[in-house]
Amino acid sequence: MVIFKNINDIKNYISLKKDGKHRVGFIPTMGALHAGHISLIQKAKEDNVLAVCSIFVNPTQFNDKKDLEKYPVSTEADIELLLDAECDVLFLPSVNEIYPDGEGNFKTYDFGYLDTILEGAQRPGHFRGVGQVVGRLLEIVTPDHLYLGQKDYQQCMVLRKLAPMMGLNDLNVIICPTTREADGLAMSSRNRRLTEPQRVVAAVIYQCLVSIQSKQFTSSFDIVRKECEDLLAAKGFATEYVALADARDLTLLSDYKPHTPMVALIATRIGEIRLIDNMLV
Ligand code: PAF
Repeated sequence: MVIFKNINDIKNYISLKKDGKHRVGFIPTMGALHAGHISLIQKAKEDNVLAVCSIFVNPTQFNDKKDLEKYPVSTEADIELLLDAECDVLFLPSVNEIYPDGEGNFKTYDFGYLDTILEGAQRPGHFRGVGQVVGRLLEIVTPDHLYLGQKDYQQCMVLRKLAPMMGLNDLNVIICPTTREADGLAMSSRNRRLTEPQRVVAAVIYQCLVSIQSKQFTSSFDIVRKECEDLLAAKGFATEYVALADARDLTLLSDYKPHTPMVALIATRIGEIRLIDNMLV
């Protein structure tokens, strides 16, 4: 695996690879890698593209600066995992390399409706920061494929919208299934901040999603949502939303809609840790 910290160096390397007819797959991350990230690298390898991973904890997407300060950093261990996964290239830039004119001083995009609901409403400015950094990284890496995890469903929709906004109409955005622990908890870098008792109860989020999915023909969403909210509260969670939406455009639904691809989404906090998850319905 080749590691680059400098934009010009990685650009030159990718340009040479492209001249050699390699296609490029890009996996943007903020590090603290886990099996979910590695599954994206593996997918890129299966697709026979040059697997380029970036690790950059992007300050502009943290609306809560405490969250940024506490974001887990484990670069050495991340590199080991990437080597094991046979990742081809790691881009490890500094904040100054990405934002040379000052933090956040770079082009932003307006995601409209998607930025006003769920994560957009709960974390003002978050998708602005995500769009900004991924836009910047896409310009540097110039991938053919962009690999994203379904765990961040709304982020996937935002980034699907970003590609045509940047004129990248040929960019293939590939959304890969959420990787889960044995008890169903979605893998997330934030999980490592859970205490042992918090970790044990965290599986309830997955149980709620399964119950939303399984009760679609026998109950109303209002009733199931209330059951989920009560269950989460009983386990010590402070819930931000339990929502149902059209899976294609995230239009929020007040009830199950027959013959419509739907997605159930949950954001909830235990102690200081905010967890999100979703499931197609
Ligand atoms: O999902 C993430 O880890 C981040 O939001 C991303 C896409 C790497 C942008 O910083």
